[in-house]
Amino acid sequence: MNKGLSVAHRLVCLAGAALALSLAPHAAQAQAVSVAERVDTLLKQMTLQEKVGQLTQYSGKWTATGPVTFKGDQEDDIRHGRVGAMLNVLGAARTRAHQQVAMQSRLKIPLLFGQDVIHGYKTTFPIPLAEAATWDLARIEQSARIAATEAAASGIHWTFAPMVDIARDPRWGRVMEGAGEDTWLASRIATARVKGFQGTGLGALDSVMATAKHFAAYGAAVGGRDYNSVDMSPRQLLETYLPPFKAALDAGAASFMNAFNDVNGVPANGSAYLQRDILKGQWGFTGLVVSDWGSIGEMVQHGFVADDKAAARAAITAGSDLDMESNAYRQHLAELVTEGAVDLALVDDAVRRVLRKKFELGLFEDPYRYSNEAREKATLARPEHRQAARALAARSIVLLKHTPGVLPLSARHKTVAFVGPLVKAVKDNHGAWAVTLPDVDYSQFIVTQWSGLRQALPATTKLLYAQGCDVRCEHRRGFAQAVAAARQAEVVVVSVGEDAGMSGEAKSRSRIGLPGLQEDLIRALHATGKPVVVLVNAGRPLVFNWTAEHAHAIAYTWWLGSEAGNAIADVLTGAVNPAARLPMSFPRSEGQIPIYYNHLNTGRPPAGDAQGQFRSGYIDERVSPQYAFGHGLSYTRFAYGQLHLDRTQLRGLDTLTATVDITNTGAVAGEEVVQLYLRDPVASLVRPVQELRDFAKIALQPGETRTLRFVIGRDKLSFFNAALQWVAEPGEFEIMIGASSADIRLRGRFALIE
Ligand code: BGC
Repeated sequence: MNKGLSVAHRLVCLAGAALALSLAPHAAQAQAVSVAERVDTLLKQMTLQEKVGQLTQYSGKWTATGPVTFKGDQEDDIRHGRVGAMLNVLGAARTRAHQQVAMQSRLKIPLLFGQDVIHGYKTTFPIPLAEAATWDLARIEQSARIAATEAAASGIHWTFAPMVDIARDPRWGRVMEGAGEDTWLASRIATARVKGFQGTGLGALDSVMATAKHFAAYGAAVGGRDYNSVDMSPRQLLETYLPPFKAALDAGAASFMNAFNDVNGVPANGSAYLQRDILKGQWGFTGLVVSDWGSIGEMVQHGFVADDKAAARAAITAGSDLDMESNAYRQHLAELVTEGAVDLALVDDAVRRVLRKKFELGLFEDPYRYSNEAREKATLARPEHRQAARALAARSIVLLKHTPGVLPLSARHKTVAFVGPLVKAVKDNHGAWAVTLPDVDYSQFIVTQWSGLRQALPATTKLLYAQGCDVRCEHRRGFAQAVAAARQAEVVVVSVGEDAGMSGEAKSRSRIGLPGLQEDLIRALHATGKPVVVLVNAGRPLVFNWTAEHAHAIAYTWWLGSEAGNAIADVLTGAVNPAARLPMSFPRSEGQIPIYYNHLNTGRPPAGDAQGQFRSGYIDERVSPQYAFGHGLSYTRFAYGQLHLDRTQLRGLDTLTATVDITNTGAVAGEEVVQLYLRDPVASLVRPVQELRDFAKIALQPGETRTLRFVIGRDKLSFFNAALQWVAEPGEFEIMIGASSADIRLRGRFALIE
């Protein structure tokens, strides 16, 4: 469509739009009139076709984030009020040009522009799973804030983030987009992200609408296969999968996106239980629900409805307001209403939800207020945005293993070998779901690992390079050169892992090892006898048992964004002391999946990791993960003092305070993530062996001690019982405080008395 908009045409549109705007009845209304009244006044003027138009979303042509099916004339549809929203229209000039066409429509209702602003806009931040590893809610909020500021300056009103799907299966490629396996942590992160995106509220020029997605349970796809079915008890849904959505809603999320999957046989789009009963009913959500790409029409493939017309009817009835790229509403909704198969009130309710957001964003006052090229130029990739991205990226790196003395690198190293397929990678650092702006030269914009480390090391340190193999690593031809570099060096840093196309949507993997012969490359380097530091770049937990056992140090670097190279160098040189903690368990083999720390005990729990006879375990694998949820090391050490509980009995609405002293006993400053887990050992429904219920991330100088206080009330003891009531049952509780789910340092008990 951009091709159709000549400069002259744009100018005419601009002048026409300004005039039309001043004459438009809704635009002339006094400020004092409430949004609800303005919506109603406008709704009364709309034809049925125009209403359906507001519920239709098209994708622009700059990127396709799904299968494009629409073959018609988008521009003509916009001009005739048949489109209410777009996605994938990038840049202030393009969003403005589209808006100018919308301003030629009869009622001049502005378009909404949505975009997958998942981890940054022009300045790319670490993938969300990596950000989650920081356990740093303030920085995560800041990352979303910066993404919103940049996107809003480009004319984007609405991001399709945060993804708040709980994911316990690393075969699923979209684990990279979420906050990991834990409901409690993910809920806090959902809150931080929504607050970051929406800032001071809709209407501010640096804020975008947030979208909690994918409603619901998309992360529980059977076998980790994307788009697959979900079969789940109502209790599990309420307790494990829905709380992050509720947290996003409570933080004010303006929109929700439903999901591709079915839940217990009902596709999410057609689920009145999810959308009408829970979301818009019990939770009182007043924002808009957008379908996922094409997912209304996909209910036909699911076998839930016979054709697109029935799909449109099922979706609007179940509470899906906006149709993204299915064309089912556009083609059938008006007819369904005319025939009496769909109540007009349902359509009106959906249209109201869309219009309300357009009013709140201030688009009726000025449809171009976000599409400002001068502001865009001044805002995108500001130096302070890049600095924030670098700081967050360094804090996302999880030090999985460290032999004391190997890191950090410093002037004492005269020669360092930096080898592996990802050392000089450019776009892979951005990871999946990074926005690709058509006019940015990313080869200049992204800091590679090579340039980051080269700049950070003293000029007196010689840095040697060999690729070894490419990411797929199908042969050993380059190994000899890598080994030769290693032989000349005092330490070897090897950068391996996935490329950006190996995780993300539709990127499920049945084998999640390091690709190809990458682990053989590490073996060959290790055989030189030099200390080997492994950097693993990936969008998901990978399996690398040999490396876990033999490497001298392992840093999980995920995909870190525009500043990846600088951030990795910051950690390798000790400018930043690593303090990230895993938000997902790392399996030893795919056969352990799904693997998560907050599992039930079973009637025959394994005796530690050893396979006991008639015990719940494997005859060919240990039960524990390779790296546990919450794990992560530092260049310093922390000592945990004694656990003190201010009372051992809780009654009614009492709270209990747990106090512990944490001391940095090492030689350098560092940050510790102190984690609090609870267990209800006897309950009417069996409860997990441990559940995260609080944490604190603290920075301590060497020798410094800090006293931490954690408050526990009934809510942290509650769960959904068999009748789906949220209850705390009287009895004993166990409290565990530690450095990870597998490194519990302190234990105590208390009781809840009715
Ligand atoms: C994804 C959504 C995304 C949408 C629009 C879909 O394929 O599942 O998460 O927001 O495309 O790009």
